[in-house]
Amino acid sequence: MNAFSSLISKADQATELVLLDPTDYEQWTKSASTKQKELIAKQSFEGKRGQKAWVQTEDTTYVLIGWDKKNDLGALGHLPFELPEGQYRTNQKLSEIQLLGWGMGAYSFDRYKSPKRLPAQIEIRDDALREKVQSITESVFLARDLINTPASDMSPSHIESEIQAMAEKQNAVFSCWTGDELLDQNCGAIHAVGRASVDPPRLIELKWGHNNHPKICLVGKGVTFDSGGLDLKSAAGMRQMKKDMGGAAIAIALAHLIMKRNLPVQLRLLIPAAENSISGNAFRPGDILTTRKGLTVEIDNTDAEGRLLLCDALALADEEKPELIVDFATLTGAARSAVGTEISAMFTHSDLIAEKLYKQGESNADPLWRLPLHESYNKMLESKVADLVNSASSGYAGAITAALFLNNFLKDSSDWVHFDVMAYNLNTTPGKPEGGEGMAMRAVFAYLEETYGQT
Ligand code: BES
Ligand code: MN
Ligand code: ZN
Repeated sequence: MNAFSSLISKADQATELVLLDPTDYEQWTKSASTKQKELIAKQSFEGKRGQKAWVQTEDTTYVLIGWDKKNDLGALGHLPFELPEGQYRTNQKLSEIQLLGWGMGAYSFDRYKSPKRLPAQIEIRDDALREKVQSITESVFLARDLINTPASDMSPSHIESEIQAMAEKQNAVFSCWTGDELLDQNCGAIHAVGRASVDPPRLIELKWGHNNHPKICLVGKGVTFDSGGLDLKSAAGMRQMKKDMGGAAIAIALAHLIMKRNLPVQLRLLIPAAENSISGNAFRPGDILTTRKGLTVEIDNTDAEGRLLLCDALALADEEKPELIVDFATLTGAARSAVGTEISAMFTHSDLIAEKLYKQGESNADPLWRLPLHESYNKMLESKVADLVNSASSGYAGAITAALFLNNFLKDSSDWVHFDVMAYNLNTTPGKPEGGEGMAMRAVFAYLEETYGQT
């Protein structure tokens, strides 16, 4: 992980940032000298977002920063790599989201290529605020690093090591079922998806917290590479599929954040991890799997593998009857057609939870949109020879039928929220560099804090 922090408690040699919107700027020019005004005019500064101007006085240098005061990640998210390396401070009061934009904008994936430069650093005097922003930033970086790391270095066994290391650090209890142990534990679906890979499939578990706190279970789809299996993807469709463990990365990073912030919950993290690969022993269209819940599933398409990992993990999650189960998955292309790449599709039976999560998504610049668990579409999942098919062949409502498939593996005893996420920024925008992204995790964390936190 990126150990260098762009968020510092005390700067010793800071350059002052003066944040001005166009109106502030007009005011500001009134007290500026002619020489200063000339210098600023040369830098085409008007106080608009994205603009900057350097100002010299006799004894100091400072920077005018144009901004629109919006409470979003983009307000300052471009600055860590647009300002020269060094320390900065401002008298302007900045919000948590604006500072988080700075923190998140300071990311670079440097495991295989050394970075050209360090990000600029901002001073945050308020310790509580800095620590919070820092731990959220760290968790976002963790999710991004896990997603950006190619499949050759982020296989199921690598995911296991990551979680084991995290468990040791946080004094959590770790366990894992690997390969044929999954069959002993009736997790036939996870086993089938991952058995053709040289790195065997597994179900990884971490448990943390006091047993008198409410039980929360996080589940994440950990397909370390999705070739599509025998229903092989096209070259273009396969190109980004190292990110198919994005749901697992988000669940892991959220667990990290929950432990780091010491949220009073009893946490269980369940990560089914597998590579959807091909070999002589790969699962096939037409095969019928027996799942942890006991339901049989006829394989219509080996590329609908994420729901197979999740169905065993969700059934297992459900057995402990937690208060809340949340899963994250890069589950369907259909969710991307419906809400695009920047919004996470959310499914839940609870109107109350949906409403609260939606609001947290809005106030935390982590947008979510609810799609319906439309019961009548269950007919698309009927099989002539098994309890269910894994994929509806109609081509309609693909994100909804995937969510309905999962719903079959849960009883009503727990609240359940399912997120179908992109987990990837296609382009760099301020605060959100191209590559892996921890989508929906900040909104869920804020919801958990609101619901279970002490303050
Ligand atoms: N991992 C993919 C879904 C995906 C593709 C997410 C591209 C984000 C971007 C998933 O395993 C998959 O292949 N889904 C199929 C399901 C279909 C076979 C029913 C899909 O969405 O096409
Ligand atoms: Mn697939
Ligand atoms: Zn997949």
